[in-house]
Amino acid sequence: MSSSVIVGTQWGDEGKGKIIDIMAKKADLVIRSSGGNNAGHTVVHGNDVYKLHLLPSGILYPNTTCLVGSGVVVDPKVLLEEISEMNKRNVTCDNLKIDSRADIIMPWHRELDRLEEDFKAKQSGVNVGTTGRGIGPCYTDKARRIGIRMYDLCRPECLKKLIKTTGEINNLMIEKVYGGKPLDLDAVYEEYKAYGEKLAKYEADGSVITFEAYNEGKTVLFEGAQATLLDIDFGTYPFVTSSHPIAGGACIGTGVGPKLIDEVIGVGKSYTTRVGNGPFPTELFDELGETIRNRGGEFGTTTGRPRRTGWFDAVIMRHAVRVNGLTALAINKFDTLSGIGTLKVCTAYKKSDGSVVKDFPVTLEELADCTPVYEEIEGYEGDLSNCRTFEELPEKCRRYISRLEELCGCPIKIIGVGAGNDQVIFR
Ligand code: IMP
Repeated sequence: MSSSVIVGTQWGDEGKGKIIDIMAKKADLVIRSSGGNNAGHTVVHGNDVYKLHLLPSGILYPNTTCLVGSGVVVDPKVLLEEISEMNKRNVTCDNLKIDSRADIIMPWHRELDRLEEDFKAKQSGVNVGTTGRGIGPCYTDKARRIGIRMYDLCRPECLKKLIKTTGEINNLMIEKVYGGKPLDLDAVYEEYKAYGEKLAKYEADGSVITFEAYNEGKTVLFEGAQATLLDIDFGTYPFVTSSHPIAGGACIGTGVGPKLIDEVIGVGKSYTTRVGNGPFPTELFDELGETIRNRGGEFGTTTGRPRRTGWFDAVIMRHAVRVNGLTALAINKFDTLSGIGTLKVCTAYKKSDGSVVKDFPVTLEELADCTPVYEEIEGYEGDLSNCRTFEELPEKCRRYISRLEELCGCPIKIIGVGAGNDQVIFR
């Protein structure tokens, strides 16, 4: 038996989908445990490219059970569209299970996401820069115990009753707080009842499925979404998502204990990117940042937004190693940095009083007072895309990788050298 948790170490978009897909081939059970369709995983299979938002990456393998866990917020419309798209490409999705406890994103959540962001922008000029998918408002309803869950969606009498209360509360928020237009709750009921009918066949108890699979000696893969610095507690709050993308979230969002986790792999990139607003110490504002963005194809899978780009930040990585209990790192996109000249790695931050900070600051105020301390490393050249062993990599590239390992305090066991699933080195 074995179980692995895959988490993002930076601000998302680290190429988790690719690592997950490679590992999903060998997994019996693949689980999404947090977030919703704010995530976007690109999976490349030969010439086929799949952009997944809610479906676990193992969906392409019919013998792999794919679980959407209790910690995920599910937009049923989006999920059904995704299933339908997959069906058109001969992927049946019969291997899909959705935990009865998963909360459902309702239309008022999307509306409130937008209204709240607009309000914040107007009031203070700063909003979170959410994906607008209703993620935060849905988790808010969950926490204030008025959420509609998968169980309710699939039972019209429950759905009707809950829409009357939770729908009304949300309508009051839309109208009385933000001056928006309330939603027609009867129409919402009819629309969502139909979604429930279509999705009912996938409803399951994810906690039981996972516990039994592990104890039967099956291989279990927890597929992370978003990333460490977007965690609601350990990310750059308030510029974070509303769930726990860190390793502990895999247990909470599935319903199993930490003893069930055997390894935790943190996925990162050989540089750093971020979408949305919020601090980013090693951000590059010059032509080089633009070059990395274009060469790395750094545009959002979910929203198409250009990603902000910057140097590799070892302070962030050490934070990720600690809060996730990482046993290994998988670092992607070493090919992107090939030939760009001297590389910089942030080893620590310096504060305005001259003190040096080695650990990621707790507050944004402290972070704002930090500037990166850089170490320069000789750049490497050449086409890495055909390298399949560490030894085949250019010597200067190997030196860069070894230095990153030292600075992060964690072995880099998986090295990405291209977008394709085979363009990877396992050590
Ligand atoms: P939300 O999750 O839509 O509420 O967005 C909150 C913040 O998390 C925003 O800055 C988003 O850009 C960011 N975010 C959410 N999901 C992802 C992701 O999958 N990759 C990268 N950033 C994300």
